[in-house]
Amino acid sequence: MKQMEATGFIFDLDGVIVDTAKYHYLAWKKLADELGIDFTKEDNEQFKGVSRKRCLEILLEMGGLTVSQEQFDQWMVEKNEDYLEYINTMDEKEILPDVVKVLDHLKSKHIPMALGSASKNARPILEKVKLLSYFDTIVDGNAVTKAKPDPEVFLIAAKQLGVAAGDCVVFEDAVAGIQAANAADMVSVGIGEQKILFEADHNFTNFTEIDVKFLDALIN
Ligand code: BG6
Ligand code: MG
Repeated sequence: MKQMEATGFIFDLDGVIVDTAKYHYLAWKKLADELGIDFTKEDNEQFKGVSRKRCLEILLEMGGLTVSQEQFDQWMVEKNEDYLEYINTMDEKEILPDVVKVLDHLKSKHIPMALGSASKNARPILEKVKLLSYFDTIVDGNAVTKAKPDPEVFLIAAKQLGVAAGDCVVFEDAVAGIQAANAADMVSVGIGEQKILFEADHNFTNFTEIDVKFLDALIN
């Protein structure tokens, strides 16, 4: 395990803290069905960690469609409106198992914590599930110009935490997110299937597999 001094922890949101990946999928699936594009859960893996705009570009490429800017923008709005319908019903019950255990442990050790998400909806979601106060800074889709796998989102988060990039740990469920963390020279922790997230430094199916000894080893 890499040895570090002041350690910062950075969490992705969708698919790590809350299971919103399923809502993104349902909203994209609805649009794909309307457009007659075959879109499976496997296809959805490429959408994880990727900006809304890039997701729509990929979807249209899959369907071999070229559309006007106006139509493109309209579908972006439509997808987000469908997604927000799911989000609006969210509460603390949607926090993934043992996420709060990990956040509480890090908080008790006064570890700086950031959210590093591609989503423009990150802040309202954290408010809905009442986790906003855990984070010292929120870096979301409104703050970045380059999407994961570019490391920008995590480098901004490290800077705002006042921690060197090489001393940060990132929790991610997306291939693009693991690649972004690795490109930032951070310790990457994959949450999900090892066969998909094989580039991560560490891998867990979910937070219930993470014990405090693992966290303490990363901190000390
Ligand atoms: C990421 C999700 O966190 O946010 C992607 O993994 C999503 O699937 C991206 O496309 C953008 O989210 P939003 O909420 O701004 O459409
Ligand atoms: Mg994610």
